[in-house]
Order: sequence, then structure tokens, then C-alpha cells
Amino acid sequence: MFETSKSATLYDRAKKVMPGGNTRHTVFRQPHQVYALRGHGCRITDIDGDDRIDAVGNFTALIHGYGSERIREAARRQIDAGPCFGMATEGEIRLSEMLCERLPSVELLRYTNSGTEAVMNAIKVARAFTGRSRFAKCEGAYHGTYDPAETSQEARPESWGEIDNPASVPTAKGTPQGVLDDVVVIPFNNTPVAEAILRAKGNSLAAVLVDVMPNRAGLVPAKPEFLQMLRRVTRELGALLILDEVITFRLGYHGAQGRFGVDPDLTTLGKVIGGGFPIGAIGGRREVMSVFDPTIGSPAVPHGGTFSANPMSMMAGIAALEDLTPVSFEHLESLGELFDAGIGDCFRRHGIEGQVTGLGSLRRMHLSNAELTDFRSTFAAGDGPKRVAALARSLFDEGVIIAANGLMAFSTAMTPDDIQEIIDAFDRALPKAFSKE
Ligand SMILES: Cc1ncc(COP(=O)(O)O)c(C=O)c1O
Repeated sequence: MFETSKSATLYDRAKKVMPGGNTRHTVFRQPHQVYALRGHGCRITDIDGDDRIDAVGNFTALIHGYGSERIREAARRQIDAGPCFGMATEGEIRLSEMLCERLPSVELLRYTNSGTEAVMNAIKVARAFTGRSRFAKCEGAYHGTYDPAETSQEARPESWGEIDNPASVPTAKGTPQGVLDDVVVIPFNNTPVAEAILRAKGNSLAAVLVDVMPNRAGLVPAKPEFLQMLRRVTRELGALLILDEVITFRLGYHGAQGRFGVDPDLTTLGKVIGGGFPIGAIGGRREVMSVFDPTIGSPAVPHGGTFSANPMSMMAGIAALEDLTPVSFEHLESLGELFDAGIGDCFRRHGIEGQVTGLGSLRRMHLSNAELTDFRSTFAAGDGPKRVAALARSLFDEGVIIAANGLMAFSTAMTPDDIQEIIDAFDRALPKAFSKE
């Protein structure tokens, strides 16, 4: 059939100037990308005029959807004042005050333009602070596109090695062996095995990097004993504990660290704290963050960045946090609970195996009833991933946007009726996803 939609026409143009017509793999779709026109409330209208509920919010960044007048007003005021300057602005102080007040472990902060850069800088801080080069991360966890942090994010059975000695598997072709040699891979949630691996590396470790609920490893919450072990062992080994809250900051007013009771040395942030504008941040203990301090001579970790702490992101981020009150967290929790009840009924009605993982406003769909604890168990859960991608495509056709791996993020712009609309779309999409196999 000859495609005449505006998105198809745009995609033909895109293919002439971008590889595969794409500049961001997470939004790629076939036969062509679909182009957004505008967002409103919790919905996106595409360039052909089709409306869909946005149930992933630019991959968890838009905790208020498109509905916050406070954010729009803050951005408008800043664009009138000037989008960026080669000078500091008051906004960076205010946003830091708000984040330090919320995050118990964070005394000082610094900004980047993405979560990737925040993670990269946190690793550099740990190296500079400890004088060691290696760090450990959990198999399957995504922490952005800094090549050491990407290690084993897409490990596969043929290359991932034994569970008690997971291989450091490159993600991008051509990753230098030296990079991989400096990354120690531990199994998420497997406390005794992870502890043994960390102890075997002894005092060569600068840090352990962990996300308490890593999306790509299954969006399964960390067990309390796993996190306690990481905190205890890093202290004993003289390594830093880096908590990646780029996604999970949205789990509570005091972030994931408040919800899980973790006391990290460094925290990485991004997404939500920019109110829809590009952002990343590294925060932590004063002593650790002093590697950036320019008042005590040449900083151990030099860090600039043309757009770091750019005023648009600072002002939109302040507005986003002002709108993110304890009451809005209660609302987000209740949306999550409504979704769980509705989707459980939906699976039962269709006699389809399925479960959701996640907490708070985050969910991930799995079309399997297998017990999920980590990356390997999520991967092994039958042919789930392919079916989930098919389900995401069917849902898109039924008017709901979720990530291809089944990730969903609810926003304060949503009401219980919107959650019901999402469930109704699942009801229609589930059988279609299976019939397309
Ligand atoms: C846990 C985690 N860390 C880091 C990143 C990288 O953030 P960004 O996409 O802003 O570079 C992401 C992005 O999804 C993430 O999920």
C-alpha cells in the first residue's frame, strides 16, 4: 500500500539526511517513524492529527506530562531573559537548594545536560577521589551511553559467562578491551555472589554503580539485603557507592534513596529534574564533591560544558519540583495501584500469562509468569521481549504509547479515567499482539 501520511513523507526526507532516518534508536519504528506535533495534558497529537495517551512520558522524563502551566510560564520567562549565558545564574542555586533539601545524602551538586554525562562524571569523581580506575555495575543495567557504563547492558547467554563470574560484554562494537577490563560486572539482587565478586576485586575498585530498580534489567526492585551489602562492602573496600537515580528519583519526594533507605556517596540525576529540558546532575557528600572545587587550586576533575546548568533547564526544573509535592506522589502511587488492578484483570480475562514489575509511577510489562529477579531471569522469561514489543506496537495503534520493552511512566497529568483508558487499550491490544505472532 502506498503510504501517504505526513509522518511517512517526513520519514522519506529523514532517510536522506540521517542514518536510517533516525537520530535516537529508542524512538525508531517501522515502517516509518511517527512525528509528534504537540503534547497536551497526558496526550500527544502526531503530525497526522492522531491523539494518543503518552504512558511513558519521554522515557520517564515528563512526570507532569505536558500539563504544567508553572513549567510553561517559567520557560517563557527565561527565554525572554535569554536562553543561556557565559555566566552563572541564580536558578542553579535554587535548583540545588531544592534537591539538597530532598535528597538526604546530597550536600553539593553540579549540572550536566544528560544522565549519561552525570554518570560519566560520577565515575570520574570516584576515580579521582580513590585513585583507582575500576568500578562495578550490575549486569543488564542501563546507565546511559558512556562506554564503560554500557558494559554488559546487552549481554547474551552466549557471551555473558558464569553467574559467579559474569563477563564484561561490550555494547558498542569497537569498545576497547582496556575499557572492559576496568568494569566488574555483578548480578543484580544476587547478594552472596555479588559480594564474593566485589571482595575478590578487593581494593582495586573506585566505585559500585547501582540503580535500585534498573529498567532494562527488568524494573525489579532491589532486595534490601542487596543494597545493604553494597553499602557495607563499598565502605569496607574504600570504594564509593554511586546511586543512579536518573529514572528512580521519581519514586518519592526523597527520591529512590529515601524510599529504599540507601545512603550513597554520590547520586546521579536527570530527566524529571529538568522539567522537560535537557539535564543531568551529580550530587554527593561535600568531601567527595570537592574534586570539582576550583577554589582549592586546579580541580582534580575539570568539568565545563557549554550548556551545563543552562538557565532553561534550571528554571523548568525548579517549576517541575515545585509541582512535585507529597500530594502529587500520593496521586502517582494511586495511579500505579489502579493500573495494577486493571491489568491483572485484563491478563485473566484473556487467559494470557503476564505480570508487571515496578513501583510508584513506573511499570514494566512482562508477558510471562516466571519469577523475575534480575537481568538473566528477565531475559530467560520465554519469548517475552518479542511479544512485548508486538504489544507496544498494537497499543500504539490503539492510542497508547509505551516503550518497546514495556516500560511505562505515569504522570501527574493523568486521572483514574486515563488509567482506565489505558487498560481498555490493553484489552484490545493484547489479543491482537498475540494474533500477529
Ligand atoms: C538509569 C539511567 N541512567 C542514565 C541514563 C542516561 O540518561 P540520558 O538519556 O539523559 O543520557 C538513563 C536514561 O534512560 C537511565 O535510565
